[in-house]
Amino acid sequence: MKRQVRRRPGAKPIVLAALGAGLAGLVLLAAGQGGLLRLLLRPPAAVAGGTPVMPPDSSPERGRVLYAENCASCHGARLEGQEDWQTPGPDGILPAPPHDAAGHTWHHGDGILFDYVSLGGARALEKRGIAGFRSGMPGFSAALTEQEIWDILAYIKSNWPERIRALQASQTEAERERGD
Ligand code: HEC
Repeated sequence: MKRQVRRRPGAKPIVLAALGAGLAGLVLLAAGQGGLLRLLLRPPAAVAGGTPVMPPDSSPERGRVLYAENCASCHGARLEGQEDWQTPGPDGILPAPPHDAAGHTWHHGDGILFDYVSLGGARALEKRGIAGFRSGMPGFSAALTEQEIWDILAYIKSNWPERIRALQASQTEAERERGD
């Protein structure tokens, strides 16, 4: 006996279309929100050279002074970022985002943040397989030592409420497990 298979015509294309729209939405979101969010879209892959790790004696006090000298001109003296930081300028490049709890710096683990500051946005993403992103974030590896970069990151973190610090710490853990 032949079994009748009931099909709902069109069910599959609708699911596919919804998936497609979801993906397109994600891509748009990533494009509108800066280089680091693009990382969410790429398949996980270990990064050559391993994940940079913050030395435990990094100093927020030293970092505060270095932040004022090197970062405040773009990211704001109070870590508030540039105006309309989520809207790209006429050149397609995003303004500097805030580093306080209102921004999305804390969505990312230590290793990626270190590379973003050391190598600059474009090269940090390239290292993780995303080529050709035009980032307004310059690299500081020639101007600052590795420890100075960690001190600045320690200062940025010291401004976050406990809950946000805990969330970011779990991002760092996840990043290490993935090897990026
Ligand atoms: C010339 C302006 C400029 C200076 C100076 C600058 N930045 Fe940036 N920074 C940017 C811009 C623009 C972005 C966003 C670019 C992007 O999305 O790739 C950014 C992004 C970042 C990000 C990624 C944050 C996120 O949530 O996506 C970090 C971390 C960062 N900067 C840290 C620093 C630190 C630390 C310093 C000082 C050592 C610094 N920046 C100095 C312009 C600057």
